Amino acid sequence: MCGIVGYVGRRPGKPIILDGLRRLEYRGYDSAGLTLLEAGGLETVRAVGNLDALFAAVGDGASPATVGLGHTRWATHGSVRVENAHPHADCTGRISVVLNGIIENYKELRAALTARGHRLTSETDAEVVVHLVEEHAGEGLAAAVRAAIPRLEGHFAFCAVSADEPDLVVGTRREAPLVVGVGEDEMFFASAIPAFLSHTREVIVLEDGDVVTLRASGAECTDVAGVSVERAVSVVPWDQDAAEKAGYDTFMLKEINEQPAALRDTLAGRLSEAGDVDLAETGMGDEMLRRLRRIFIVACGTSYHAGLIVSYAIEQLARVPVQIDVASEFRYREPVFDPDTLVIGITQSGETADTLAAMRLARAAGSPVLALCNIMGSQATREADHVLFTRAGLEIGVAATKTHTAQVAALLLLALRLAWARGVQPEAELRRLGHELRAVPEKLEELLARPSAVEEIAARYRDERFFLYLGRGMGFAVCLEGALKLKEISYIPTEAYAAGEMKHGPIALLDKESPVVVVADDSPVFPKLVSNVEEVRARGADVIAVATDGNETIRELSRDVLWVPRTDHHLAPILTVVPLQLLAYHIATLKGYNVDQPRNLAKTVTVE
Ligand code: AGP
Repeated sequence: MCGIVGYVGRRPGKPIILDGLRRLEYRGYDSAGLTLLEAGGLETVRAVGNLDALFAAVGDGASPATVGLGHTRWATHGSVRVENAHPHADCTGRISVVLNGIIENYKELRAALTARGHRLTSETDAEVVVHLVEEHAGEGLAAAVRAAIPRLEGHFAFCAVSADEPDLVVGTRREAPLVVGVGEDEMFFASAIPAFLSHTREVIVLEDGDVVTLRASGAECTDVAGVSVERAVSVVPWDQDAAEKAGYDTFMLKEINEQPAALRDTLAGRLSEAGDVDLAETGMGDEMLRRLRRIFIVACGTSYHAGLIVSYAIEQLARVPVQIDVASEFRYREPVFDPDTLVIGITQSGETADTLAAMRLARAAGSPVLALCNIMGSQATREADHVLFTRAGLEIGVAATKTHTAQVAALLLLALRLAWARGVQPEAELRRLGHELRAVPEKLEELLARPSAVEEIAARYRDERFFLYLGRGMGFAVCLEGALKLKEISYIPTEAYAAGEMKHGPIALLDKESPVVVVADDSPVFPKLVSNVEEVRARGADVIAVATDGNETIRELSRDVLWVPRTDHHLAPILTVVPLQLLAYHIATLKGYNVDQPRNLAKTVTVE
């Protein structure tokens, strides 16, 4: 999730663009860059690191340029180095492009462009765009952008400037955000409204396929075919803080709602429409995957829960034995390693001390280590043999939400890749699962758009002093995550238990109207879960079930049901965890707590 800023107007663009980038810093910052249209052509400066590095690189000198682009990068393709920072220039150096999103077919495009004589200088997917635009530059920048768009697969928003048309900026979007700010003899592009909110509240929200040309005098919008389209100007009521949260009250709620986009980004280019899984980027070839005799998963907190959830799927689908442990235990229990044991370190920050130590221990013992991480350039990515990135974008809220579901999706890709490589499932079954996984982001979008009973349930139980969470199989692992969410932001004691274990002790905790959350989606263990729910009901507890749409059995047994769309039970945790995130969120909010910065907690635990 990168940040784009474009400016054309009556004022010098440099300070406006830099300030806009600063306002988008919450979107991610491992490198940044700026292009200004000076008299002699394009002046571009790029720097690795957060925006301070770019500010230092551009210096305090004033520039008369009134047209330019800026970009703050959250790397998805290509390491964190200056050549991969945006803006990217074409071969002539007269066109510059900044992009947010993923070009899924960039490898084929790179090969074709190189074969046609283009010199590409980065590892990024974004760079192919400026060279495609260059190939039509003679038709004018807007026409060249329109010509490039149909060649691109994926979801993106990009802006372009040309030294040959120094009074305009062209921008377009497809399933990635791009908005226009309408000022007084000045116009703005941005990935998000905060970038220009201090200059104007008049906004044009663009639709997919819009190609917009901005001049100081205003905006011209067409579709990809060049046919004019009208787009309304609206006035946003937000202040700066609300704008950074995209109008949500908190970063956590914003990030819960960003999960469909985070899933799409994480799956993009790795899961084809035919259901094939491509994880070549990890360097783990099928021969290595076939040779594996065991997998260790090590992680902490929510990342541990992601690993536990998918450990079931890996064993069931790929038939590889999986052991999983919290990193703080793993690192001291003298585990037995061997070269055919893959150790997977799951850490969204890539900086968690216990997970790093566990990974180092494994590597020193000769086991190959895979880091599943959300932040390029983080320590974990530098201390692993293989890396698989989630592409959830920067997560501000201390309570992990979008990074968690992105981890589950990435691990499910690995489970499928393993099953393909080891030939232990019928091809048709793996393709079916691949199709189902591709459909999950849309199902989650639909779920988040539903009216939900969760706020009413939260209001009913906000003063409860204890919650019990019960589930079986992957549902039990989802319960652990749901219980942690409630614990860490509402400070209510919770316990998550394998439902079959309940009669071995925890049932003593229940009394009349105790809230018991049950993850009861349709799965092979559902019938067993029903009897556990009946045991709970018999003690007078209130059952709050997370269940698959239309499951009448659970409806009759529950006081409340939080419904989720149907999907394969291996994939269901991506959906069933979301009502539990929202339940925790609304209870904590009703209790007046700061959900973005809960007491005693830090986003990353870099100490033992
Ligand atoms: C989860 O909401 C917490 N933020 C915490 O448990 C977190 O998952 C854990 O500290 C691991 O962090 P990591 O993924 O960055 O390693």
